[in-house]
Amino acid sequence: MAPIKRHKITIVGAGATGATLAHWCAAKELGDIVLVDVVEGMPQGKALDLQQAAPVEGFDARVTGTNDYAETADSDIIVITAGAARKPGMSRDDLLGINYKIVKAVTEATAPRSPEAVIIVLTNPLDVMCSVAHRASGFPRNRVVGQSGVLDSTRFRTFIAMELGVSCEDVTALVLGGHGDSMVPMVRYSYAGGIPIERLLPRETIERLVERTRFGGGEIVNLMGSSAFYAPSAAVAQMVEAVLRDRKRILPCAALLEGEYGQRGIFAGVPVVLGGDGVERVIELDLTNEERAAFEASCRDVRESLAKLPAG
Ligand code: 2OP
Repeated sequence: MAPIKRHKITIVGAGATGATLAHWCAAKELGDIVLVDVVEGMPQGKALDLQQAAPVEGFDARVTGTNDYAETADSDIIVITAGAARKPGMSRDDLLGINYKIVKAVTEATAPRSPEAVIIVLTNPLDVMCSVAHRASGFPRNRVVGQSGVLDSTRFRTFIAMELGVSCEDVTALVLGGHGDSMVPMVRYSYAGGIPIERLLPRETIERLVERTRFGGGEIVNLMGSSAFYAPSAAVAQMVEAVLRDRKRILPCAALLEGEYGQRGIFAGVPVVLGGDGVERVIELDLTNEERAAFEASCRDVRESLAKLPAG
């Protein structure tokens, strides 16, 4: 038998999100981790610090910090968190110009070194940055996926659970569309203990929770002056696990649509089956006219942002 190798996870960007993601991945023993950043010493320091938590926490994952992309070679997963983050008053789209260059360069530096990897994008504006990574990597569409729906849905789930005073474990919810203010929390597909939330909460309350979910990222930026990182990185860790353990989870993720939901050529949040081959399937839901209109409006926003990218 050939020696069994551990999975290798590259995380580009050792800021709060990248470092916290490294923490979740190490604690869950999802694989060895390479934390890359342009800032000298910072990824090395954070990696060493995390490595030194291993005896206490009892994980065997090797954590390496580096400024050298050569160390990312042969990764199974590349997570792109690098890029400027929002400050109060900024929309995710305000980051487009600067993050386009970063995500393109990072993809060109990592994808050829790990030609079989699945790329997970977290940099904003998320759906457009997925297109950047897809184009720059030349990877098939199943191996480029964006983290947005898991985060937006976990926010919606949290708010529903808090409102009902029940365990968040019993709450499932689905948020589709682009990862922007026009995202579409799908009330009809959200449940607590298998019971549709429309049976449990008045309409005005649900509307309030939907609005809070839409602006969930902004609420945190306004509170602390910078972007959220615990929930975004936890959401990515769930996706990393789904791929590396071939779990075939049904998760809302940003996937390249090629006709599904009547959309073509853009990434947007839809339910997918996420497993060892990345996005193994897009699940198409029946939408009401109102839901479809909201989804299409969100996709229009993504398309408009995409049109602002430089050609090539
Ligand atoms: C958020 O929604 C960072 O876009 C991310 O918090």
